[in-house]
Order: sequence, then C-alpha cells, then structure tokens
Amino acid sequence: MSILDKFGGLKQSYGTLQALGADPFAVSFDSVLSPVEATIGQRRVLVFGSNNYLGLTFNPQIVEDGVTALRAFGSGTTGSRIANGTYQGHAALERRLAKFLGRRHAMIFTTGYQANLAMMSTLVGKDDHLLIDADSHASIYDGCRLGASQVIRFRHNDADDLARRLRRLEGSPGHRLIVVEGIYSMLGDRGAIAEIAAVKRETGAYLLVDEAHSLGVLGRHGRGAAEEAGVEGDVDFVVGTFSKSLGAIGGFCVSDIDDFDILRVTSRPYMFTASLPPAVVATTLSALSVIEAQPALRERLLANASQLYHGLAKAGFQLGPQVSPIVSVKLPDIPAAAAFWGALLEAGIYVNLALPPATPTAEPLLRTSVTAAHTEAQIDQAVTAITAVGAKLGVI
Ligand SMILES: Cc1ncc(COP(=O)(O)O)c(C=O)c1O
Repeated sequence: MSILDKFGGLKQSYGTLQALGADPFAVSFDSVLSPVEATIGQRRVLVFGSNNYLGLTFNPQIVEDGVTALRAFGSGTTGSRIANGTYQGHAALERRLAKFLGRRHAMIFTTGYQANLAMMSTLVGKDDHLLIDADSHASIYDGCRLGASQVIRFRHNDADDLARRLRRLEGSPGHRLIVVEGIYSMLGDRGAIAEIAAVKRETGAYLLVDEAHSLGVLGRHGRGAAEEAGVEGDVDFVVGTFSKSLGAIGGFCVSDIDDFDILRVTSRPYMFTASLPPAVVATTLSALSVIEAQPALRERLLANASQLYHGLAKAGFQLGPQVSPIVSVKLPDIPAAAAFWGALLEAGIYVNLALPPATPTAEPLLRTSVTAAHTEAQIDQAVTAITAVGAKLGVI
C-alpha cells in the first residue's frame, strides 16, 4: 500500500492517454526560437498553444530592461513583501498598474493564481457571499476554499441566473461579491460583463473582474473586457496576471476602494510568499509601456484571431462561440483528442490538449491560441495542418 494509491484511477487514465501516443504533460521545449517558434526534441514547431498574446517575450527593449534590473538588483528578493521583499520596482509597478487601469490602488502578487487566492479569501468573510461564474478558473475556486465566505455558483455567463440567486439572498447579512472573467481561458468566450454589471448595479453587490486573458487584448487602450463593454465604472476590483499578454509572471489587483492597503497585512497569499524577482518586475513595467505605445499589436492580434477562427470554422470544426485569441476545437472523445494532438505535434504544430474536468463541458478540447507575432502564412499553415489531421481522423 502506498500513500499515492488514491490516485490509482487517475494513473490508469494517464496510462491510457500515453498508450494513445499523447503525453502532453511530458512536452519540454528544448529551445525557444521566438514567441511562436520552438524545438521539442529534434522537431521544430510552430507554437499555437501559449498565452503570449502580444508576442512580447523576446521584445529587445523588454529583455534589455530585465537584464539591467537583474544586474542592478540581483536575481531575487529572497523575502516576502511584509518582511524583506519590497524593492523600489515593486512600488513603481504598482503605481504604474494603478495609472494604466485608472485606479487609485494596486497590489502585485507573485502569481496571478495568488492574486485570486488573496482576493477570494480576504475580500469576503464568513458572513459574506461570493457569487462566482461556474466556469471560473481554478485559482478562483481555490481562493474560495481558502476563505470562509459562502460560495454560490451561477450558470456560466447567465446574468438572469445570477440575479435570481442574489434575490434569494435578500435579507441575509453580509456583503456580496460577484466574480467573473474577461475572457474564459478554455473556450475563449468573453464574460457577459455588461449584463453582469447591470445586475451588480441593481443589487448593490461588489464586482470583481479577472482580466487575466483580456488585459492588453480587449478595449481601446487594452484595459480589458470591462473597457470593451464600457462598464469599468461598475467594476470594484480588477485582477490580472503578468503571465499572458505581459509575457512574464505575477499577478495584481487594482481598486478605488478606500483602505485597500489593509489587504497587504491580511492576505496570506501576499504575506507568506517571496515577492517577484527584480528582472520580472522590470520586464512587466517595460511590457506595459509597449502595450500603451503600440495599439497596433492589439489590432494585429485580433486580425490573427479572426483568421484562425474563421479558417477553422470554414473547415467545419466545432469551435467556441466567439472570435478571440483562444480558439478551441471541440472533439468528441479523449482518444480522438489525444490522437489529434499527437498528429499535430508530428506535423510541427504545438497546441494544448485540454481534458475534462479541466474543460467547461464533458468534451475534450484542442485549445489553440494566436499571438500578434504569428504571420498570416504561419496561421495558414496551422489551419491547413489542423484541417488535414481533422479530415484524416474523421472529425470533419
Ligand atoms: C482566468 C485566470 N485567472 C488567473 C490565472 C492564474 O494566472 P497565473 O498563471 O499567472 O498564475 C489564470 C491562468 O491561466 C487564468 O486563466
């Protein structure tokens, strides 16, 4: 008997996946040639499975700024913000994020995951209610478990269901905090932010939007889905991450609420972990400058998203409901998805294999994504390869 025996069922499923020739968890990029090209083993691949939406990871100025900070401040802070881990760069990045998002306060975290852990567990307490979209990211669910509030899930993107559930709470004590995402990471669909903001206004709840996949992607200035929907004024807390369009790692929350800084001494995911290393802080600051200075990158990204989405739709694939940089192909079952993923890798196209329960429905997904750095020719190449494999496997 082993302490890990409880994972026997999972081990068996994983073994089945490997027997089908697909082991997405074992992929290692041996070299990264650009934001969209890499080698996996001896094979050169086009990367259509990242969150590098603006393709900034090799931007010369950003890399240079990271190297300069690395030389000046060293490789790490070796401490948490409340003990010994605040450097001037952290404060500068917080000021910069607050300004970019038009808010008075900002806090940064070591990952986006921790930003959500912190907010879900600290903004609401045991007499309060968290109302979360059913398709919320794992970090939102895990944050609920870390906190003590009552958690209510409403149907994905369904403002009426949310309103019904809020009405049922009438007369009960405490605050209500609604949590939604700007773009949902699996199917690439946008959050129904305008409708949800209307419910927030009617019910007096607080609203938090996780713009992890929409920051730098949506809105005239790249501030995200709430900017695109014209409801930024209704959003009380914006959470985001540096690991996607900003090309680094880290997370943040901004707000206009008074006393926001009290969260610095009450949020365990902020207090009990080391702060971001100086090079990461510097590249993130630098990437924010690029987002502000180059709106054309966003236009390029959305044109690329449209090319990939319409190319795959025309080929006959079942996709998510909207054009976005995340274009997911729905597949009938796990063997088909695994075979598809493996055949694409053979063909030099790297995408993400997403399996239930990590997917919103029982269907497995081939999650593809584009960046501003892909060329039209590369997107054509991906559509051709995906279509050929889909036809061969009888998916289309
Ligand atoms: C919606 C959402 N929120 C938060 C996170 C966590 O961000 P990070 O990976 O930067 O920790 C993710 C990650 O994919 C996400 O999709």
